[in-house]
Amino acid sequence: MYRSNTCGDLRTSDIGSEVVLSGWVHKIRDKGFVVWVDLRDRYGITQLVFDQDRTSKVLLEQAWELGRETVIQVVGNVIERASKNPNIPTGDIEVLVNGLKVLNKSILPPFTIEDETDGGEDIRMKYRYLDIRRNPVKNNLIFRHKVTMEVRKYLSDQGFIDVETPYLIKSTPEGARDFLVPSRMNEGQFYALPQSPQTFKQLLMVGGMDKYFQIVKCFRDEDLRADRQPEFTQIDCEMAFVEQEDVLNTFEGLTRHLLKEIKGVEIGAFPRMTYDEAMKLYGNDKPDIRFGMQFGELNAVAQHRDFNVFNAAELVVGIAVPSAGSYTRKEIDSLIDWVKRPQVGAKGMVYVKCNEDGTYKSSVDKFYDQEDLAKWAELTGANPGDLICILSGSIKETRAQLSALRMELAERLGLRKPSEFAPLWVVDFPLLELDEETGTYHAMHHPFTSPKPGQLELLETNPSAVKANAYDLVLNGNEIGGGSIRIHDKETQAIMFKHLGFTPQQAKEQFGFLMDAFQYGAPPHGGIAFGLDRLVAILGGQETIRDFIAFPKNNSGRDVMIDAPATIDEEQLKELHLKLDL
Ligand code: AMO
Repeated sequence: MYRSNTCGDLRTSDIGSEVVLSGWVHKIRDKGFVVWVDLRDRYGITQLVFDQDRTSKVLLEQAWELGRETVIQVVGNVIERASKNPNIPTGDIEVLVNGLKVLNKSILPPFTIEDETDGGEDIRMKYRYLDIRRNPVKNNLIFRHKVTMEVRKYLSDQGFIDVETPYLIKSTPEGARDFLVPSRMNEGQFYALPQSPQTFKQLLMVGGMDKYFQIVKCFRDEDLRADRQPEFTQIDCEMAFVEQEDVLNTFEGLTRHLLKEIKGVEIGAFPRMTYDEAMKLYGNDKPDIRFGMQFGELNAVAQHRDFNVFNAAELVVGIAVPSAGSYTRKEIDSLIDWVKRPQVGAKGMVYVKCNEDGTYKSSVDKFYDQEDLAKWAELTGANPGDLICILSGSIKETRAQLSALRMELAERLGLRKPSEFAPLWVVDFPLLELDEETGTYHAMHHPFTSPKPGQLELLETNPSAVKANAYDLVLNGNEIGGGSIRIHDKETQAIMFKHLGFTPQQAKEQFGFLMDAFQYGAPPHGGIAFGLDRLVAILGGQETIRDFIAFPKNNSGRDVMIDAPATIDEEQLKELHLKLDL
């Protein structure tokens, strides 16, 4: 028996019992005649004591030899500690050792296995197995486990069936590039790894499965960010015989359940906002509504003077930053520099200080009087003491820029509180999005999303105006889920492909299997997929998903621990019928 207890178990009630513990040497304090060792495992830390008077000299000598991260097994008696440690649950006791076995030695770890480590990101990723021994990473993985178990329990209780779908498939268009796998047995042919199980879950509905879910890896070759990994996990769900309302209610139920069980937070009905409203009020389709600073559009009250910057703009829009009216010139200049960074891309920023006495001081006083500025304050909801920040330009760019500024200011002002949860549904997304570079349309969600009832005809006349039966679940400014009611008949799907620029031949080649299936009594259906990594990170009070993934990739898509991707040898290339031309 390697252990009778874990290193997190023992309390004063165990005093007097003989125990066997196994774990890693966390820390050693060597006073010569007495040695204390902190023994660590997943469950906690227990202090061991080796003492010349109470244990044997041989044991003490063995203890002197121990190094950090050595794996040991000890036998000993639980005794009361002379100086107690109130910071750990086992802090009232220690184990007086009377037998020690080294199970495996450790070379010196490249960073300290402590909550606050001296190891930088790169080195921790290279030795991720050591990083996982640290509480912050370990606890995140345990937290993730708790969330996935709750998800499974909830969905299973609601009658959802967990079905696995294949990884070696054909392209599923979700807007990213595919990861491809060459086929040895089929020369010149490739599998694509799923960007999502979208088509399969729809085929499961045709198969009559009715309620499906899967916690599943998805693969997307796209630029990486804090909330994006090339392989990530979805809670993928689909239901038959449902309308949008049914899907929203079911998954609002799941989200509410998770918030309650995992965070102890009870939230009422989630607010709903149309895509158009979200863009107008927050410049963003995933607004963080934990705080205000809603956009105030100022065209009507800012384009009647000689200020050509505003007069030439498609949109003049501002936000009121609470209590920032006292910002110094230097602080405001730094904000202006911030919006002018290439990542944000604004040309400049106009500001208005709302003085406590009800007067205004602006950077455009030359053009606008107090009455004008009072209207701007009203439209942005600014109070005395606030600072109004105003950007102008094309609608799309200006909204994106002001949205970035809103989030940055909220971050600086501490308004993005990780312990607060503000979910909302964003609904009525446009069906199509115009790619300005190519002048072609692509599906905003994916090509299987149905237009809102009665809007199919609009596709011919005004494609940009067609709204989709699509919805996103947003939590604290992050898109944590997205889904739609699907097209379930062959004719509509064909029309959709046509508008996405597929020839009938191409549509048949790529998605013939789905269109065929629709001919055999496909039920009306719809669903959603949550980004599990994002959901877990946000519930955990963070936004970087890497910290909640056991073995993540770095920003260049590399696993630096196993050193992947890697070259392959000639023989393997030949087997796969591939030739490299580098
Ligand atoms: P969508 O593409 O919106 O929908 O993806 C669903 C959710 O997955 C998460 N997500 C990601 N998380 C981490 N890294 C990534 N690279 C990444 N990409 C997406 C997001 C997102 O909301 N088949 C549809 C769902 C449906 O229609 O039912 C789909 O995949 O949180």
